[in-house]
Amino acid sequence: MILITGGAGFIGSNFVLDWLAQTGEPIVNLDKLTYAGNLQNLSSVSGNTQHIFVQGDIGDTQLISQLLAQHQPRAIINMAAESHVDRSIHGPEDFIQTNILGTFRLLESVRAYWSALEPAARANFRFLHVSTDEVYGSLEKNEPAFTETHGYQPNSPYSASKASSDHLVRAYHHTYGLPVLTTNCSNNYGPFQFPEKLIPLMIANALAGKPLPVYGDGLQIRDWLYVIDHCRAIRRVLEAGIPGETYNIGGWNEKANIEIVNTVCTLLEEFHPGSDFKRLITYVKDRPGHDRRYAINAQKIERELGWKPAETFDTGIRKTIEWYLNNPQWIQDVQTGAYRSWLEKNYNGRQ
Ligand code: NAD
Ligand code: DAU
Repeated sequence: MILITGGAGFIGSNFVLDWLAQTGEPIVNLDKLTYAGNLQNLSSVSGNTQHIFVQGDIGDTQLISQLLAQHQPRAIINMAAESHVDRSIHGPEDFIQTNILGTFRLLESVRAYWSALEPAARANFRFLHVSTDEVYGSLEKNEPAFTETHGYQPNSPYSASKASSDHLVRAYHHTYGLPVLTTNCSNNYGPFQFPEKLIPLMIANALAGKPLPVYGDGLQIRDWLYVIDHCRAIRRVLEAGIPGETYNIGGWNEKANIEIVNTVCTLLEEFHPGSDFKRLITYVKDRPGHDRRYAINAQKIERELGWKPAETFDTGIRKTIEWYLNNPQWIQDVQTGAYRSWLEKNYNGRQ
């Protein structure tokens, strides 16, 4: 079996569902269930004995050691993290705790477990760390896309904490020989994404008739990847990646934020004929230190592991919009008092 951390979050829950559907191999899912973790995402596998959910913190050494001893996983996939840039600007502490200290403690527990394995199991073991393209910093308009050798230049507390965790993972390979794999991925979108991130926030606000807040001039560029393509890529890296290597994962879909917002509005208008969602677009004060452009060169993973995205942006965004339209209860259930407080904190004063 394998063990995933953060498997009740956006990418993690998509990964768990896809993993069980594609492989049937048992998976232990350790998640702290912060505001971003949601067991509703996993309700379709609630009766599946191949999925073992454990609520807990990656920094809880005793719990992790006990889980490793009990389940003897052949691999760990580390997705647990604080993941939202704006939250890292308002309060970096949780990012340092989970993304840096948590990853460190997890690595320590895993190193102790792995060191005691039989030689064959030691050789076959993998620790796959899921990271982000944000560690590479920001690109100018005409600069080439990030390759795996691009220098680290993180600009937000979030990306700095992820960069730090990447360095620790790398060091555990070089120093202790732990068979690690690191993936650096671009912006994901798809089902179960918490509506603090651009695409689900725009969908939720548009459906509620609220302003669609575009930071700054809206011309910042992100490289969009459908979440299931990301899950497939991680499975492939786990299966065939070379320990110690990093793999960039991206969708070859560079788009300006305002283009994304317009596309979301156009698609929603298709499903709600006669509506005009674009009138809700509101330019607001920019994010401090806002990275201008990210772009992933995903040639290495295609060349060496034969992975490339199956979805285009057109097919992926349509599936995404349809999922949110078909799941109004999910959107309503995540919009708790804590969610409303976050919106006030982040958006009041930006107008
Ligand atoms: P998310 O915020 O939706 O989910 C994170 C999950 O981690 C939640 O379920 C949360 O409860 C859990 N968690 C947080 N702290 C924990 C802790 N201390 N111990 C155990 N569990 C904890 O995030 P996501 O968007 O699904 O991202 C998953 C991973 O992928 C993160 O490492 C993120 O940095 C990385 N990533 C995300 C994107 C993206 O576009 N969303 C792109 C590239 C990389
Ligand atoms: O690049 C990968 C990263 O993508 C991941 O590592 C992060 O976990 C993930 O959150 C995402 O980071 P971004 O900051 O790019 O995503 P976000 O959805 O927050 O914002 C996308 C762009 O949209 C960004 O340029 C900021 C802008 N934006 C965002 C929000 C929430 C707005 O203009 N308005 C908004 O209200």
